[in-house]
Amino acid sequence: MDSQIIFKQSRMEVHNHMSDTYREEIAKDVFRGLTAPRKFIPSKYFYDARGSELFDQICSLPEYYPTRTEMAILRHAAPAIMGSFEQGDIVELGSGANLKIRMLLDAAPTEHLSQLRYVPVDVSTSALVDASEELLTLYPDLEVLGIVADFTLHLDKIPSDRPRLLLFLGSTIGNFSDAQRHHFLRSAAFTMNPRDRFLIGFDMLKPAETLEAAYNDSVGITSRFNKNVLHVLNRELKANFDPSDFEHLAFFNQEKQRVEMHLQARHSLEVMVDDLGVTVELEKNETIHTEICGKFSKSGVEKLADESGLKISRWFFDTDEWFSLAELTLKERR
Ligand code: SAH
Ligand code: TRP
Repeated sequence: MDSQIIFKQSRMEVHNHMSDTYREEIAKDVFRGLTAPRKFIPSKYFYDARGSELFDQICSLPEYYPTRTEMAILRHAAPAIMGSFEQGDIVELGSGANLKIRMLLDAAPTEHLSQLRYVPVDVSTSALVDASEELLTLYPDLEVLGIVADFTLHLDKIPSDRPRLLLFLGSTIGNFSDAQRHHFLRSAAFTMNPRDRFLIGFDMLKPAETLEAAYNDSVGITSRFNKNVLHVLNRELKANFDPSDFEHLAFFNQEKQRVEMHLQARHSLEVMVDDLGVTVELEKNETIHTEICGKFSKSGVEKLADESGLKISRWFFDTDEWFSLAELTLKERR
């Protein structure tokens, strides 16, 4: 089965493209990650219902500047972004909560709202359904097509028959490796029509102390978010991780221009992953790499766009240039 309709009401439908493949994927990914010489777990497995809730809490932490900075840019830029977008699909990749899309919809002239369809795409079914249902109560004329899918695999499942404003906010683009980022942008460009626009949020390079504080909050929410992936593995693959055996580590890697998150074993230990039939050994202080949060320069973003067949049509910044929104369109084909 290709996709399953998991929710349907008059102005909203949710399609699931993951139900068939999720079990195979998580087994394959976790086996590969935990048997590698340097252990890792792909970060999309953070986001079960609890992980999405913890992420929302991260967004309002005082140390976590990206969300409020991007919201301030959006508030300012929304009329310019939405003014010329009268009808079509607003596709949000990794949509999560609905705060950011609301800022754009609030800037759309009321008569446009019934001509717009919101298409959130996320691996987290609970976050997607909750955010969409709430959105419909706020904008009763809007139409919503939710797509539960992996944006690294399923970009071709997203409709492209109407003009599109694509959104990839929150510097989620920073959570890819360099190779994944290039592959993702080229695939996205491949699905774009000349009239489509792609708005991407980039967290910019800044002093290491500010970056490190953002991922080491004083109340420990980011640590709980990081460890949530162990609960997901315990549940989905019958593993027996004890999260209290691990320390949350987050630091800025200057050379790679990214914050890295790890889970570090407090002592040597063994973990059984029953569904994979493997026992994983960790030495004291050994880490499992769980996330990368790449940080960008203007020239880096320009180069990335150019190498992906895209060009920057507009940039939006806050006054400190801590965060940016780049609007990309297809480069003219020669
Ligand atoms: N856009 C929101 C949320 C960012 S967090 C914001 O700016 O605050 C990243 C979001 O992407 C989460 O909602 C997570 O569930 C989703 N996500 C992570 N990996 C994904 C993947 N491979 N495919 C689809 N969604 C993914
Ligand atoms: N993409 C955002 C960032 O890089 C949000 C995010 C993804 C995040 N994974 C995270 C925030 C882990 C804190 C911890 O900041």
